[in-house]
Amino acid sequence: MSAHSVTHRCTTLVLGSGVAGLTYALRAAQFGPVLILTKKSRSDSSTNRAQGGLAAVLSPTDSFDLHVADTLEAGAGLCRRDVVEAVVREGPALIRSLTELGATFAHRDGDSEGLDLGLEGGHSRRRIVHSKDRTGQEIESTLLAAVAKHPEITVLEQHLALDLWVGAAEVGRRCYGASFLDQETGATGLVRADHTMLSTGGCGKVYRYTTNPDIATADGVAMAARAGCSLGNMEMVQFHPTCLHHSEAKSFLISEAVRGEGAVLRNLAGDEFMEGLHPLGSLAPRDVVAREIDRETKRRGDKFVLLDASSIGEKRFRERFPAISARLETFGIVGGRDPIPVVPAAHYMCGGVVVDLDGRTEVEGLFASGEVAFTGVHGANRLASNSLLEASVLAERAGGITPQPAEGPEPPPPPPPGTDPPLPDQGVILDHEWDAVRSLMLNYMGLVRSRGRLDRAVTRLAEMKEWSGDLYRTSQPSSDLTELRNISLAGLIMATAARAREESRGLHTRVDFPETDPVPRESWSRVGEGGVEVTLRPLES
Ligand code: SIN
Repeated sequence: MSAHSVTHRCTTLVLGSGVAGLTYALRAAQFGPVLILTKKSRSDSSTNRAQGGLAAVLSPTDSFDLHVADTLEAGAGLCRRDVVEAVVREGPALIRSLTELGATFAHRDGDSEGLDLGLEGGHSRRRIVHSKDRTGQEIESTLLAAVAKHPEITVLEQHLALDLWVGAAEVGRRCYGASFLDQETGATGLVRADHTMLSTGGCGKVYRYTTNPDIATADGVAMAARAGCSLGNMEMVQFHPTCLHHSEAKSFLISEAVRGEGAVLRNLAGDEFMEGLHPLGSLAPRDVVAREIDRETKRRGDKFVLLDASSIGEKRFRERFPAISARLETFGIVGGRDPIPVVPAAHYMCGGVVVDLDGRTEVEGLFASGEVAFTGVHGANRLASNSLLEASVLAERAGGITPQPAEGPEPPPPPPPGTDPPLPDQGVILDHEWDAVRSLMLNYMGLVRSRGRLDRAVTRLAEMKEWSGDLYRTSQPSSDLTELRNISLAGLIMATAARAREESRGLHTRVDFPETDPVPRESWSRVGEGGVEVTLRPLES
């Protein structure tokens, strides 16, 4: 099937099946048929892997003001206060609606009414609603069960979105749907929809080391950039301080909630190196902890630091963190007894496709929510467990907007991929290019940056983006090639935005600009004929 002819029609098209996409689909289904395209199986999402939980003000000792203040403090002066306030206020209602839908959250021992509220880095109060260390899985399975029962919603698995169908600027930028690759049959197709929701998750796979699942290849960011959308704060990549360091443990996260229950970080000599560096010690905001781990390992010439959870004890650790316990045991580590070797790894994209509080992008009919979207909530560093909250609030709001059928003639569909059979060594070359992008991002766009490193990154990523784009236009489509085209474009945008931000703030540390600019400014990036253009705009609220 050619990508030039419409293969599916629906009122609403949803790309991605994490919390944002599923929440949106359930709400938007009131207006007519919803089609969800998801590139692996329906539960392959970052949501499903989320261990920590959902931040919400539920304790009598907590308040919206405190949650807002913690979010702004973590965000290092770059959060949009009005958006933070609006999102934080929705927390309690969101927990109620997820509970009504069937999600089960952990309660305090012997108290069927009171939820057990966890603590994570940067929070001044216990406010993390959790299902032990499987919170994301609980939410994902609850939403999937509701979607499965809904007569208006269809889910197509193994369907990888290729490009958005958007008219050129001269004819008014409006989205009509998207093209896709059916990875089982190899066929391409085109969906025509009144509204399209991008909920494709983040960009962790742009980096060599990440806590993210394999699906996190920046597809939404890359598609939106090609369609002419602005991307906000793309240089703000959050590294989680505690990813398990083990040669056989691919991207396994040790939740910050473990430190919330009392675990501390030590260097290999046993010193608690976060002591005295921040009032919250090992529970300081993530940017601070990740940077200090980086500094400490470099200072000592070590490869990792240790998470000492012995104060929690084996029994309590197993009970509170069953999934982490089980995984650690496969490597011979007893949680709550043995020190856990950890390193920082790419975890969350705080920037993304610029949207308003209803998830509207700059292109009519195109929405975004979840990690792919940029609302201004996370600023220069996301507060732990604020992301499921932000994703759900935005998806709910966007899903309440009545779809407007597009008027006038449809623009030409997105250019289809090529038809040439792959070269005999194409697979090997693609593997090397994937490795090259991911290593480059780690080495030149990691925790510590400089003009020299970013110049190298931009030059090489621009070349990789051109090469993968050219190959995509001529060669039969494959997921490896499509994703390489996306990670190289996303990496290029990230590195170009990082080069433009000549200051150190939150997650962005420049050795050549160690000071923080007194005027907080957002970076807005756009991709045009001449490459990536970045403007720095003073924060509006
Ligand atoms: C964690 O459990 O540490 C991850 C929570 C988050 O990233 O919000």
